[in-house]
Amino acid sequence: MTYLQAKELLERKGQMQLLAYYDELDESGKAKLLAAIENINWDFEDALANPVDMSGKDRDIRPSPGLRVSAIEAKKAEYEATGVAAIKAGKVAAVLLAGGMGTRLGVDGPKGAYDIGVTKPLYIFEQQMKNLLEVVEKCGVTVPLYIMTSDKNHEQTTSFWKEHNYFGYPETEVKFFKQDMAPAVDYDGKIILETKDTPALSPNGNGGWFASMQRAGLCEDLHKRGVEWLNIYAVDNVLQRIADPVFVGATILSGVNCGAKAIFKTEPHEKVGVLCMDGDQPDIIEYYELTDEMANQRDENGDLVYSYGVIMNYLFRLTKLEEIVDKKIPVHIVEKKIECLCADGVTRKPEKENGKKFEALAVDLIKLMGSVLPYEVVREKEFAPIKNKTGVDSVESARELLKLNGVTL
Ligand code: UTP
Repeated sequence: MTYLQAKELLERKGQMQLLAYYDELDESGKAKLLAAIENINWDFEDALANPVDMSGKDRDIRPSPGLRVSAIEAKKAEYEATGVAAIKAGKVAAVLLAGGMGTRLGVDGPKGAYDIGVTKPLYIFEQQMKNLLEVVEKCGVTVPLYIMTSDKNHEQTTSFWKEHNYFGYPETEVKFFKQDMAPAVDYDGKIILETKDTPALSPNGNGGWFASMQRAGLCEDLHKRGVEWLNIYAVDNVLQRIADPVFVGATILSGVNCGAKAIFKTEPHEKVGVLCMDGDQPDIIEYYELTDEMANQRDENGDLVYSYGVIMNYLFRLTKLEEIVDKKIPVHIVEKKIECLCADGVTRKPEKENGKKFEALAVDLIKLMGSVLPYEVVREKEFAPIKNKTGVDSVESARELLKLNGVTL
């Protein structure tokens, strides 16, 4: 793109601030800025003009039936045999969503490279791979692993895996792909400059993972290998069970398009999104959308009826994903602290939120899957999220849970 083309585009879009320092740049800076402008994804304009309606009106929300731990235990042998057979037949692949920026944890670089060890190093990636390796050992085959990164952490992630010899996994079974980026804007909708030659861009949320995977040409690889199910999981849960044969078997035998691991809510106002039905479609209702009446509603056993809280571990049927991949999913607007070029020419991270980012969320994909199986897991065994350094969902709380599960730190 030439300067004149960029100017014409930005004038039309009302984003001329991006060229404010153009004349000060050297030739490579100019080329870098023009390329960045050419690559801007303008979908955010629509998201700003038509914000997602979060009010929940016009929804016909009702509880979703699911599988409790006791029901799973009763059929464990059957589920496990089905799951193991599917894994052995190469029908299951794993997809690690690791494109996030981990801002709350406050680390530079990939969150999975964070060392949670105490007496010896133990990286988040490494701990998760130990769990996957248990399945590999049990089934006698490797599960292909796809890792989503973003422009912000791709190089660091790939070199970290290489440096650590893929944590004992065959290199050929691990493939990386990058998610898309979206611009960040100030409160007037103007794209923020991070430096004089770089617009502020950030990963566009975890909802576009399958579209990004497809764009990276990985669907061919999936088909070549005969994969039918994709187990996606978040990088921040160190008790994550990946390609769990019992979960795989239960999902397959239930005939649904998606299985969703969930913790069972015991406290009405716990801050997790819960699986429910909207008419005859699966949906996820966020904790702030639950009315008091719904939050407190209990069944004949005294259990909360809106109770399956999702933990970002889903098993998706590949053919259904391919069917819905072109459907539009909502783009959410989130206020964040965005690193920006200050008046003195220095780039800083502000103390307070200074603008908006645009994110598609994996939960919105669930709604399109048509049918979902909520699958209860024992919270203390499978859910140790690391979002913060201390306090709730932190490195500290995850360490305690790891110890409880016999992991030596
Ligand atoms: P979070 O929503 O916790 O976001 O991600 P985050 O970026 O890791 O952390 P904060 O909000 O900046 O503190 C849940 C999962 O989704 C992935 C993350 O890597 C994590 O595994 N994710 C999130 C992506 O892959 N891409 C994104 O754009 C956002």
